[in-house]
Amino acid sequence: MPVTTFANHKGGVGKSNEVEGVAAELAMRGRRVLAVDLDPQGNLSRRMGYQEHELETRPTIAEAVRDHTPKALRASFLPCQWEQDWAENITLVPSRIELEERISEAGVPLSWQRLHKCLAPLAGDFDDVLIDTPPTIGHLLHLALVASDYVVGATTPTYDSVRGIYRLKNFIENEDQRAGLGLRCRMIGVVINMKRAGVANHDQRTEALITRFGDLVWPPHLPLRASVEDASERAEPPQNAGPEVQQIFRDRVDRYMKAVA
Ligand SMILES: Nc1ncnc2c1ncn2[C@@H]1O[C@H](COP(=O)(O)OP(=O)(O)O)[C@@H](O)[C@H]1O
Ligand SMILES: [Mg+2]
Repeated sequence: MPVTTFANHKGGVGKSNEVEGVAAELAMRGRRVLAVDLDPQGNLSRRMGYQEHELETRPTIAEAVRDHTPKALRASFLPCQWEQDWAENITLVPSRIELEERISEAGVPLSWQRLHKCLAPLAGDFDDVLIDTPPTIGHLLHLALVASDYVVGATTPTYDSVRGIYRLKNFIENEDQRAGLGLRCRMIGVVINMKRAGVANHDQRTEALITRFGDLVWPPHLPLRASVEDASERAEPPQNAGPEVQQIFRDRVDRYMKAVA
């Protein structure tokens, strides 16, 4: 059961959008996907069909990490609310603002293993686990990375966002961090999102990423499209933005499948 974290030390770059698109394409292929919202903002949860007030009185990822048992994780499961083909293959672990409280546990010995302890015993229940993360390199990202086999960086072709990917990669590859946290994950891809045609800066940043990361950069790049934002506003998968976006996520999932095979 490959576990993959989607991350960047930068917000608003399309991390959640990427998790949605990959989850939707995997589900279309008949794979059973567990989508874990590990961002206290709960954007993935909202876009998979659950408003904040609907999550107030039920278990979420916050309680699962607190109790760090597979039972607590299972208690948080919700069906994705998209159309049928997608929905029946995607299970959501929702998030709400209370997840912020877990950050105070960062100093507790082995607290960084708590998500891994929830997930590892579920091996076999899902074909893919995708973790959406906040734009920080702190305790919540540590929880995700410790639980993960693979990492995909999501970025816009802009200076600060690309810097965020460099910091993420440096963190994952730092020997002290790997030993201290017990990381085994490795980066399998960098995806470029919100690219605008005819913008010289976007072309330069894209080239710089390819120079630095080579084959790790997964083409094709997702262009900036109002229809993608509209889909997320409506709590629909990005695939509803049309055939161009559908094809991009097909290609990305081909790359993903090769990497995790
Ligand atoms: N290719 C795109 N074109 C237009 N808007 C996009 C695109 N990708 C994402 N967005 C929008 O940009 C915003 C930030 O994306 P999101 O996935 O929430 O980023 P992050 O999770 O990194 O904060 C959201 O409103 C989303 O709908
Ligand atoms: Mg997000």
